[in-house]
Amino acid sequence: MHSPTADWLLKLPKAELHLHIEGSLEPEMVFQKAAKHGVKLPYPSIEALRKAYDFSDLQSFLDIYYRGADVLRDEEDFFDLTRSYLEKVHSESVRHVEIFFDPQTHTDRGIPFEVVIRGIRAALVQASQNYGMSCELILCFLRHLSCEAAEATLKQALPFKDWIIAVGLDSSEVGHPPSKFKRVFDVARGEGFLAVAHAGEEGPPQYIWEALDLLQVKRIDHGVRCLEDPELTARLVSEQIPLTVCPLSNLKLRVFDRLEDHNLKHLLQRGLRATVNSDDPAYFGGYLQENFQQTAEALKLDRAEILQLLENAFLASFASEERKSALLEELHENAKGSAG
Ligand code: ADE
Ligand code: ZN
Repeated sequence: MHSPTADWLLKLPKAELHLHIEGSLEPEMVFQKAAKHGVKLPYPSIEALRKAYDFSDLQSFLDIYYRGADVLRDEEDFFDLTRSYLEKVHSESVRHVEIFFDPQTHTDRGIPFEVVIRGIRAALVQASQNYGMSCELILCFLRHLSCEAAEATLKQALPFKDWIIAVGLDSSEVGHPPSKFKRVFDVARGEGFLAVAHAGEEGPPQYIWEALDLLQVKRIDHGVRCLEDPELTARLVSEQIPLTVCPLSNLKLRVFDRLEDHNLKHLLQRGLRATVNSDDPAYFGGYLQENFQQTAEALKLDRAEILQLLENAFLASFASEERKSALLEELHENAKGSAG
């Protein structure tokens, strides 16, 4: 698929703000790590595993996603996983990443927090040295578990505080509202962490209100259901709260039946600070470039809209003001040079 827009887009500098590192675990690596650790997989081949990636909703995906993560056992595994993602997006001109990790998925299997974060961190440091990429880490609490479990996880994270910019909230949304996690988010913000939360992916607009008012988040992850509530939409616009939208994820998890039905263009037209991200690229069939390309085609986004999305991601990022200015300048110079 080599349209002029795809080639133009590939070279433009990008930021990714919604990426679960466990969701970048490709079937090839599942098999490689399973062989390394002597784990028996319930799939005869890489192709058979890939074929199982056919989801009916968020929970059907999460069941497979948590099982896949079981092959990640030591520091080298977390390093390889992260290095492989960063190498891929470097080839798509991604300059800044903010990566989610789910420590509880691993600590609940007996893998120490330290093993997980040291492996990921080593790959981030390498990417900043080799590619000049800026990289941040966001620790996500699993919302199907208790607030007490999240508090215990936060405690484990404190010795590594300097490596983590924010806390987030992910996993099964419906039935697990942000209000359940107010206490741990209060403590986390008190420790200096920024806050984000998944809300309004499958859950109602009320969950977005709670994320803003109770968890005091700086961004909403997904948030696509905000348009059902005009008062909420008006607030998100006036405060320019970013939404980290993940179009291919929404398609694969059937939040929208077809990519053509996705509301991203409406979000932009309404003046929301929407961004494009890949969520769990190994499971949803595309990294950042593919998300942009397929969405631009399905929604007939013009170049000005694509540039707005790219700019929004830099503005919405937790990069320093200096880094943001440099990236925005690079984007504008590049876009000027390749306008058409
Ligand atoms: N964990 C990984 N991907 C997720 C998603 N799309 N929603 C909630 N939790 C997730
Ligand atoms: Zn997500």
